[in-house]
This record gives sequence, structure tokens and C-alpha cells, in this order.
Amino acid sequence: MKYFFLSFLFVAAIVVSAAGFRGSKSELPPIEILPDMDHQAKIKFQTSSEFFADGLGARRPVKGTVPMGYEVPQAPAAENPRPPKFGFTNGTSYYHTGKVGDYYGDGLPPEVEVTTELIQRGAERYAINCAICHGASGNGKGMTSRYGILNAFNFHQAGSTDPTNQAAYRPDGAIYDVIVNGKGLMGGYSANITVQDRWAIVAYIRSLQTAVKEGQVTVQ
Ligand code: HEC
Repeated sequence: MKYFFLSFLFVAAIVVSAAGFRGSKSELPPIEILPDMDHQAKIKFQTSSEFFADGLGARRPVKGTVPMGYEVPQAPAAENPRPPKFGFTNGTSYYHTGKVGDYYGDGLPPEVEVTTELIQRGAERYAINCAICHGASGNGKGMTSRYGILNAFNFHQAGSTDPTNQAAYRPDGAIYDVIVNGKGLMGGYSANITVQDRWAIVAYIRSLQTAVKEGQVTVQ
């Protein structure tokens, strides 16, 4: 019986210590067993700071900063309507949407001049944004495929340069649209890539396909 009372008291003490005082309020700071990164020398948003001469905690963008994914508008906002859908484009033309009416267009829009610089720019942007999944050569076997995570589109699969092959061919406007809005497992990249750069990537993918087709580049 003695042991029963002792163990009863013991269990009661544990229950009270674990659950008993929950919900009660205290003026004392909470006991921090693992403070992690709770206390840091940082500035919270919308607060002032004596560190900067203007007394503001938040910094203004550096002069001349351009938000990523936007073209600097050439025309006033009223003349430059946004498409009804979201997306970091500021126009409804083929150049901005990749679409002619309800259909994807093929060919580069007149706003895009095909130059060596454009292709080089596209190559650079492709390497930064797309190669991780689609592979440096565009065969869909980028770094991510080594880990079995994604099965990205192969730009060199059979029929990929034949416009009548719906399964493998993608019109220029369709590639542009996938860069903006993503598709299936792929997310959109409109926030990272400007309108002009998206077309540069499209142009680069086309030159990659031509190079592979003509045997200048081999795809493993
Ligand atoms: C995080 C990995 C990833 C990145 C980065 C990526 N893609 Fe993709 N992409 C995919 C996957 C996965 C698919 C297949 C989507 C599906 O069918 O579900 C795909 C599909 C596509 C398609 C074919 C869509 C269709 O019509 O079937 C195109 C075109 C494409 N990507 C272009 C690009 C371009 C251009 C870039 C760079 C701006 C890019 N992707 C970056 C993963 C990626």
C-alpha cells in the first residue's frame, strides 16, 4: 500500500508538472531551453533604426533598380494594358503572350531581332534557368534527373523539329508561354526572366535543336 501511495504521488507530480500550469499567464519571460535564433541583432519591418542616417529601418532600392521580370514600360500604363491573366507581362500582343488569338504563334515576334548577341544571351539565360532540369543540351536530363526527381521535356526527342508532330513539337509561342506560366510539373519563370530574355531563350532552344539535327552537337 505504501508503494501504491508513493507511486500515486509521483505520477500526480509528473502530471501536474507537465500539464497542470498550462494556460496560466505569467509576467516572467518564458523559460528558453533552446533559444535557437530568437534573439538577434536585426531590424523588424516597419520600424525605425538609428543605424542609418535617415532613421528608417527599411532601405530604399538602389537608384536605377528595375524589378525582375518586368520590362521597363515604354508607354504609359494606360496604353500598355496587362493581360487579364496574372503573369509578369505588361501587354496583350504576341510579343507579350506568345499567343495569336487563342492559339500559340510560331516564329519570333517582330520586336525580337535575331542576332548573335540574342542567341548568346539566350544561351546564358538557358544555362541559368533551364539547364538544371532540361540539361545543358536540352535532352531533359539535367542535374535533377540524376536524382529521379523530375522528368523534364526533351527538346530533341523524335519529331521535336517537325511542326506536324503534336506530341514532340512545341511552337515558339508555346515555349514562351511555358516560361511564363509553367506547365504540369514545371513552374513559371516569369518573375526571373524578362520578356526579351524569354524570347532569347526560345531562339537559343531553336538553335540547339538545329545544331543537334545537323550533327554539330551530339546529345548523350
Ligand atoms: C525545376 C525543373 C525545371 C526547370 C528549371 C525548367 N523546366 Fe521546363 N519542364 C520541367 C518539367 C518537369 C517539364 C514537364 C512538365 C510536365 O509535362 O508535367 C517541363 C516541360 C517544359 C516544356 C514542355 C511543356 C509542354 O508543352 O509539354 C517546355 C517548352 C519547357 N519545359 C521549357 C523550359 C524552359 C525554357 C525553361 C527555362 C526558362 C525551363 N523549362 C525550366 C522542368 C523544368
